[in-house]
Formats: sequence, C-alpha cells, structure tokens
Amino acid sequence: MSKVQIKEESDIVKARSVAKEMARDLGFGLVDQTRISTAVSELARNIFAYAGEGEVYIETDWDHRKGIRITFTDQGPGIEDIDLALQDGFSTAGSMGKGLPGAKRLMDRLNIQTKPGEGTRIIIEKWLDK
Ligand SMILES: Nc1ncnc2c1ncn2[C@@H]1O[C@H](COP(=O)(O)OP(=O)(O)OP(=O)(O)O)[C@@H](O)[C@H]1O
Ligand SMILES: [Mg+2]
Repeated sequence: MSKVQIKEESDIVKARSVAKEMARDLGFGLVDQTRISTAVSELARNIFAYAGEGEVYIETDWDHRKGIRITFTDQGPGIEDIDLALQDGFSTAGSMGKGLPGAKRLMDRLNIQTKPGEGTRIIIEKWLDK
C-alpha cells in the first residue's frame, strides 16, 4: 500500500504515477493502467480543487479480491447531491463536469461517502479477477 498527501498541484501527478506503477506491478495491461491513472488524476484533482487538501491511499490487497483499490479522503465541503455530481456535465465550478462520471466509467466500482460540511471519501476499484 501507498499513501500520497494532496497539498499542491504537483501531488496530483505524484498520485497518478504511484497508482499507475502499482497497477503495472500487479499485472494490469497498459490500457487498464491508463484508465486507473486517469481516474486517480480526476479524483485527486477534485480534492485539490474543492477541499484544498486530502489524501490518496492505494492498496492492492483487500478481502479476497485481486486488483487495485484507491481511497480519496478529504475534510472539505462535501458533496450536496451525489447522484447529481455523478451526472455528465454537472459542475459547481463552471467546469466540464466530467471527472466523477468519467472515473466511474473507467473503473469497476466507485463509491462515494460524503457529508456536507465534513468531507468526502471516494473509493474506486479495478479488479483483475472479474
Ligand atoms: N472532493 C470533493 N469535495 C467537494 N465537492 C466535490 C468533490 N469532488 C467533486 N465535487 C463536486 O462534484 C462536482 C462534479 O465533479 P466532477 O469532477 O465530475 O466535475 P468538475 O470537477 O466540476 O469538472 P471537471 O472535473 O470535468 O473539470 C464538482 O463540481 C463539485 O461540486
Ligand atoms: Mg473534477
């Protein structure tokens, strides 16, 4: 497992490359490595943009599954409406609104836990043993 603190913009690239390296070492092909690192990049960018700082935790061993699981945690403003935030084109920042729905499509699982005013935790997974 590996932990990357998100505090400045360059940390997004760090999280992205650590995840890609771990995915490669685990046996994911280049296409999946790119899917995973793109999703990590989007979610780490959201931490930086909306919460200012947070943490990315990457693990390759949990329960009985073989794959990669990445947990994004922050103590930012939280997400008001999860279903809305997952819709293509929804953004509170006048941006493209493609980060969350894109990450969901790229991964096998995306789970959001959030409380307005307290923060957000997002877990994404990609499995090798589907
Ligand atoms: N970690 C977070 N904390 C608080 N709000 C968040 C967080 N991540 C996402 N959001 C909210 O969910 C919305 C949708 O996020 P998403 O990444 O899909 O789009 P975006 O960041 O607005 O645009 P894009 O990622 O395409 O540049 C954001 O506009 C923001 O309101
Ligand atoms: Mg985004």
